[in-house]
Amino acid sequence: MKATAKAPANIAFIKYWGKKDVALRIPYNPSISMNLSACTTTTTVEFSNKFSKDEVFGVEPTRVIEHINRMRKLAGVTSHVRVETTNNFPSSAGIASSASGFAALTIATAGALGLSCSEKELTALARLGSGSACRSIPDGFVKWDGEFAYSLYPSDYWDLRDIIVVVGKTAKKVSSSEGHEAVETSPYFKNRLEAIPERIRKIEAAFQEKNFQALGEVIEEDCLDMHRVMQTQVPPLYYWNDMTKNIMDAVKGWRNDGLPVYFTIDAGPNIHLLCEGKDEQRLLEKLQGFPGIEEVIPNKPAEGARLI
Ligand code: DP6
Repeated sequence: MKATAKAPANIAFIKYWGKKDVALRIPYNPSISMNLSACTTTTTVEFSNKFSKDEVFGVEPTRVIEHINRMRKLAGVTSHVRVETTNNFPSSAGIASSASGFAALTIATAGALGLSCSEKELTALARLGSGSACRSIPDGFVKWDGEFAYSLYPSDYWDLRDIIVVVGKTAKKVSSSEGHEAVETSPYFKNRLEAIPERIRKIEAAFQEKNFQALGEVIEEDCLDMHRVMQTQVPPLYYWNDMTKNIMDAVKGWRNDGLPVYFTIDAGPNIHLLCEGKDEQRLLEKLQGFPGIEEVIPNKPAEGARLI
């Protein structure tokens, strides 16, 4: 009863911020994301009657054991578990380690327990661990709507890049789970929910036409909209630092100089730069000369979580 799974992190183009049902992690709005090739979690899960207690290595155990308990119950298994997990990127810095983490944990646990679940069912299980994790299960470009997530397009559909610019590796003070819960206190939240259906329509059209400018404009609009909500919640959440803002400004300048690049930011200071594969080298050259950057992590669109 042992299995290992590998899952990618994902970057949301339309963000998930706010839960209609907190216990079931049902989001207020659908979200759309891309799986990231260079940011993965690998997790091994083993159940055995030889173990005298549950043990978790490499990550804070509380939510992991809660998730294991849900799945143990489903399978009717009572044995103790040993979980070992590693990320190949800095955790808790706004690169969604909970997404890759709970996606890998769900797939490895289902494998170790011998549960025969469809991909759709696995997305619902992963969602209960962490909302954004359900988007790391299907391949490529993914939409999460309500209970389930599914692939809109495979990873080779569009040669996009997400260049993550790491400008702060310190763990965040407020977790995104806590942040989600105050979303209704922002006076801008209602406007956000009203604006999202049109953004989703625009993103889906941009995908169909492979219109990068149209895609990028909606991605930035939704990022800034989510951060407006975050910054006006009670208590407010400010995730950016000075470097985040410097890069946001630089992106505008590069775009004016004819380099098609757009940014998005999650619950942390690091900034994700989106471009097409043909423009990756030019963008990397711009970043090379930029003072204050700690690390640059280029990602291609990736497949979803897998047993390995
Ligand atoms: C800002 O999925 O980490 O990255 O469901 O409470 O685990 P929980 O939240 P989580 O929230 C991610 C929020 C975000 C936006 C996004 O990825 O869509």
